[in-house]
Amino acid sequence: MAEQRKLRLGAVLHGAGGNLAGWRHPDAVADASVNFQFYKQQAIKAEEGKFDFLFIADGLYINEKSNPHFLNRFEPITILSALGAVTSKIGLVGTLSTSYSQPFTVSRQFSSLDHISGGRAGWNVVTSPLEGTALNYSIPLENHPDHSKRYRIAAEYLKVARGLWDSWEDDAFVRNKETGEFFDQSKLHTLHHEGEFFSVKGPLNIARSKQGQPVVFQAGSSDSGRNLAAASADAIFTNQETLEDAIAFYQDVKGRAADLGRSPDEILIFPGIGVIVGDTDEEAERKYQEVANLISIDNALDNLGRFFEHHDFKQYPLDGPFPELGELGKNSFQSTTDKIKREAKEQGLTLRQVAQRSATPRTPFIGTPEKVADILQEWFEKGAVDGFIVGAGVPTGLDEFVELVIPVLQRRGLFRSEYEADTLRGNLGLPIPANRYTEQREKLKGTEEEKAEAEAAAAQVNGAV
Ligand SMILES: Cc1cc2nc3c(=O)[nH]c(=O)nc-3n(C[C@H](O)[C@H](O)[C@H](O)COP(=O)(O)O)c2cc1C
Repeated sequence: MAEQRKLRLGAVLHGAGGNLAGWRHPDAVADASVNFQFYKQQAIKAEEGKFDFLFIADGLYINEKSNPHFLNRFEPITILSALGAVTSKIGLVGTLSTSYSQPFTVSRQFSSLDHISGGRAGWNVVTSPLEGTALNYSIPLENHPDHSKRYRIAAEYLKVARGLWDSWEDDAFVRNKETGEFFDQSKLHTLHHEGEFFSVKGPLNIARSKQGQPVVFQAGSSDSGRNLAAASADAIFTNQETLEDAIAFYQDVKGRAADLGRSPDEILIFPGIGVIVGDTDEEAERKYQEVANLISIDNALDNLGRFFEHHDFKQYPLDGPFPELGELGKNSFQSTTDKIKREAKEQGLTLRQVAQRSATPRTPFIGTPEKVADILQEWFEKGAVDGFIVGAGVPTGLDEFVELVIPVLQRRGLFRSEYEADTLRGNLGLPIPANRYTEQREKLKGTEEEKAEAEAAAAQVNGAV
């Protein structure tokens, strides 16, 4: 009998809270975003729950209106390297922008994380939506790359990174103390990349890891984002809120991957979801209300503004229709701002309703552990997702998910009870990408062997004649 397909789960670690007032919750650790003991405890808990990976989101520009967690938090690779040392199986996925970094440095950093953790590294590729980021990188504001250019940069960047990661074939480092041969010269490859945005000679100064290359996630759901993911990502982090939207997105991205000659199983789709569980549905609802009530309408307007380049929404009447914004937001979080505008129009929402919805979304994943498990199962079985990236809706949410929801998923045979592997690729069921040069050599060897066999057979026939 075929083995039951298993759900994959990531846990977002967002310190003091994913929303603007999360840190004020009575159970919140208010300095959690820069508190290593907190991250360590959460990482160990997620591994106890057999989560596939920890997930760290990130950004490179703040102002006084930003979410408190954004104001004072760890840099992803740094915190993941530390968490790699206190865990042994769980994947470590960190966000890093292709618009404001260099592929040589970043390939090297993720490769190092992959080695330190024994093959558990993942990179969430983002393109930095906020134009203010330019000012932190010695670039004039007007030269912040626009949406489509950011994705062209990202595509070339990933090509370079993957090329650099193959600099050394797996058995390149001989380290023969007798002969003095440290590496096999024929297994070292220099990239010599020259492109529109990058010029990178290589080789990279670190070998491939146990999982070949780090797992590449992509976060961005516009047309360009989907194309980038379909062409070159192993997974996509997305944000559909309804089953129907998630099914449509799933089919679309898998279809794009298939059109490019990839197996749809080689790109995994993970919506980020906010979960709140309670002993009863009413208790879960009460917990949701407690969080929602902490957020002032000013907080909610600031939060909404961030998606639109920190646009000031306080200038509009709160209970009037959502304002007409023209092209505003197209260049930043495009897929998100398009959706906000579309839903406001279709559903006739006021500014207050849009701001509240965006600050404390009423997700379908609020209820008893059984109810939450039912909905996770429904989305999974109806072909909407390969897994979820779970965000805790309340400060104790990760512990509650591990203790109350995961056992239900395990009993239903939907989620693992033990890790299948010790690499992230192994647990996600993703193949280890072959080193391109080894693959080429094998192919060539295959053809030469075939040629030799054919010649030998021909000689035999000729001899016989
Ligand atoms: C679900 C999701 C998560 C994202 N996470 C991040 C993040 O952690 N850091 C970041 O700088 N940008 C993040 N982005 C922004 C994208 O990388 C991108 O710059 C922006 O959304 C525009 O792309 P899109 O229109 O294709 O969605 C995220 C986008 C989405 C849709």
